[in-house]
Formats: sequence, structure tokens, C-alpha cells
Amino acid sequence: MAAITPAAAEFATGRCYSFPVEKVIPIVPQNRLAIPPLRQDAGLPLADTLGRGLRDLRISVTDRCNFRCTYCMPKEVFNDDYEYLPQTEILTFEEIVRLSRIFASFGIQKIRLTGGEPLMRKGVESLIAQLRAALPTIDITLTTNGSALKAKARALKDAGLSRITVSLDSLDDATFRAMNDVDFPVGKVLESIDAARDAGLGPVKVNMVVKRGANDHHIIDMARHFKGTGHIVRFIEFMDVGSTNGWRMDDVIPSREVVHRIHEAFPCEPWNAHYKGEVAKRWRYLDGGGEFGVISSVTEAFCSTCNRARLSTDGALYTCLFAQQGFDLKSLLRGGQDDVSIRDAIAAVWQHRTDRYSEIRTAETAKARKVEMSFIGG
Ligand code: GTP
Ligand code: 5AD
Ligand code: SF4
Ligand code: SF4
Repeated sequence: MAAITPAAAEFATGRCYSFPVEKVIPIVPQNRLAIPPLRQDAGLPLADTLGRGLRDLRISVTDRCNFRCTYCMPKEVFNDDYEYLPQTEILTFEEIVRLSRIFASFGIQKIRLTGGEPLMRKGVESLIAQLRAALPTIDITLTTNGSALKAKARALKDAGLSRITVSLDSLDDATFRAMNDVDFPVGKVLESIDAARDAGLGPVKVNMVVKRGANDHHIIDMARHFKGTGHIVRFIEFMDVGSTNGWRMDDVIPSREVVHRIHEAFPCEPWNAHYKGEVAKRWRYLDGGGEFGVISSVTEAFCSTCNRARLSTDGALYTCLFAQQGFDLKSLLRGGQDDVSIRDAIAAVWQHRTDRYSEIRTAETAKARKVEMSFIGG
């Protein structure tokens, strides 16, 4: 196996064991973080304590999903007794659009709708249409498991969605059914990917979470299948998000090993990023067969350029995927605050931001209680 990075080595020894102090201050629902007022005319770009700008907004529109991917919503936890958010706690479309407009005033360039499974949110096409009307030039995209996409692809495009990402962990039907743990067949997801392309939602990005022993023997099949199609596969290191997926470092296949395996089958070379802070590292096939990406949160952390804010299903602002708490924006919305006050609160939270979880990950932090990915979005 390839050598691990210093960060991963540090993880392995367990030496680096600190957690950002603000993560243990309860700021929900009381919002006790001291918020210095921000002048209305404060200039862009907004930067956090590490100089990172705010570029992307990821919005979770539902905490529900019809899959039970073992690495995200394990069946034992997300069972019939699991308490999902009540309807009253979930942001309405009007609230999501209002917050999106406010975020857009900081110059964000992309909104990604996530979940849970965003296509399970009733009327999500209408939300997209409202976002598109409010923000005509922004990149609006969505991450889906593809189970309901075939039927909805055209409507999503017509509503104004720019493009789409589909999760797909294996092309082998038995492996895929085992990983989604609801016996969902791979063929239907492949039909959805075609439907998305036909509807004009391409290039479709295909996310494969790689877990040792579960699906890593299908990496080459996945690369081969999508090579030359215009779709872009991204191989994602299995991460310790949430606190229910039983994450172990041993189950992580470092991206460099993924690249090594692909390179042996299909020679490839590194390619330039589309923009600063892009999550995936791009590789292109030397024979002109297109590109694939690797997302290496565990072995090659990319916190130093992290420019993503996350809005949870119930309207809290999270500044890290691995956060323990968020900042309750819904109370401000429903408490009658005007846009300027809400904008000031967002700015203050971002300006206080120190998150760099993946850079300081240890065996201990991996075990800490963190927000579930299905609640905050991937
Ligand atoms: P593009 O808009 O196509 O560039 O998408 P993206 O690169 O933002 O990718 P996407 O939203 O599909 O994210 C892919 C996966 O990367 C997610 O499902 C997560 O697993 C992981 N990921 C995304 N953002 C972060 C992040 O800020 N931190 C960590 N640790 N992982 C992330
Ligand atoms: N590790 C890595 N990626 C994950 N996702 C969900 N859980 C994990 C995890 N534990 C990502 C997948 C999926 C998206 C919705 O979230 O990329 O495509
Ligand atoms: Fe659902 Fe996506 Fe999580 Fe799988 S990874 S359980 S499809 S939200
Ligand atoms: Fe950003 Fe947190 Fe992911 Fe680091 S771990 S890249 S700070 S979301």
C-alpha cells in the first residue's frame, strides 16, 4: 500500500488530539456566540480566521432517505423508531429562498441541494424554480442517490437545475444492493444517469464512496464503465462523518492507492482544478477518455481551502461537515429579524470560523459525537 501522509500518520499515532473550542460551546438554540455587528457596507469577500472565503452553500432539504447506505444511515440506527424532524422544524421553501438570497449577497457561486435524499422532498422542483428566479446566474446543483431521478430529470432541468451528482458505489448489482441495504438495483440508477444526461443535466458526476472490502474491488470496473462517456466518477475516501457508521481507519483506501490502481489499468495524469478549493483532485486519462476525480478528506485533507457553508434541514448554519453544533438561523428567520441582521449573523459566524477537522482528525475525534451527514448534507 502507498505511504500515508503526515496527517494520516499523526492520526495513526493519536498524537494530535485537540478539538476546536467553539465546537463545544452550545450555540444552538440560544445562539450565544457573541456576534459583533457588521457594517452593512462591509466589503466582500467574507473571510474566516484562516482567510478562507465563502464560496459554496450546501442546503439539506430533508433528513430522510429511502436508502440505508451502511456508511451513512445504517439500518440499526435509522430504523422505524428513529425520530426524524417534525414538519414544523423543517425550513419552508420560502425560508430557504430567503436565506439563499442573503448568502448570495456575499457572492457565493454555487448552491448544492442535498439531504438525506433531496428528491424525497415534496415539490423540490418548485424550490429549484424559486431559487433560479431569485438567483438567475448561480450554479444550482443537487446530489441524489438516483432512485427517483429517471422520472424527475426533465422537470428538474426545466425548473432551472444546472447539473447533477449521482451517488453510485458499485456497478455490481449484489454489491450495490448490499451497500444501499434496501436491495435497490443498480440498473435503475444507471437509467437515471442516462436520463439526467438526456435532460441536459450533464456532465453527470458519479460519487463512489470506497470502503475496503466492501467495494474497492470494483474501482476499475467503475472507471472503465464511465471512461469516455463524459460522466465524471469521483472516488471518495470513506469518512468518519456522524457517529453511527462504525468508521475505522483500516476501512479507508487512500486516494493515492485508488489512482495507482487506475493508472495501472488506464494510464492517467493529474489535471488542473476548475477553481481554488475544488474538493476533488482531477485526473485525466492519457488516451483522451476523459477524467475522474478523487476526494481525499482522510489522507490529504483540504481544509486549508474549504469555502463551504452548510444549512441543515432545520435551518442551522454549520461551518464544517464534522461539526457538533450549528448556529440557529431558523430562530432568527422566525423571530422576525430583518435580512440585514441575519446577514450580519452569518457574517459573524463565518468570520469566527476556525474549522479544520480533517487536518486534526485523530482516533479520538473520530469517535466524538458529530452531526449526521443525512441531516447536514454531504
Ligand atoms: P462540484 O460542484 O461538482 O465541484 O462538487 P463537489 O466537488 O463539491 O462535490 P460534491 O458536492 O459531490 O461532494 C462530493 C463529496 O465530497 C461529498 O459527498 C462529501 O463526501 C465530500 N465533501 C464535500 N465537501 C466536503 C468538505 O467540505 N469536507 C469534507 N471532508 N468532505 C467533503
Ligand atoms: N464517507 C464519505 N462520503 C460519504 N457520503 C455519505 N457518507 C459518507 C461517508 N461516510 C457522501 C457520498 C454520497 C453523498 C450523499 O454523501 O458521496 O454520494
Ligand atoms: Fe441516503 Fe445518500 Fe446517505 Fe446513502 S449516502 S443513505 S443515499 S443520503
Ligand atoms: Fe471543510 Fe470541515 Fe471538510 Fe475541513 S473537514 S474541508 S473544514 S468541511
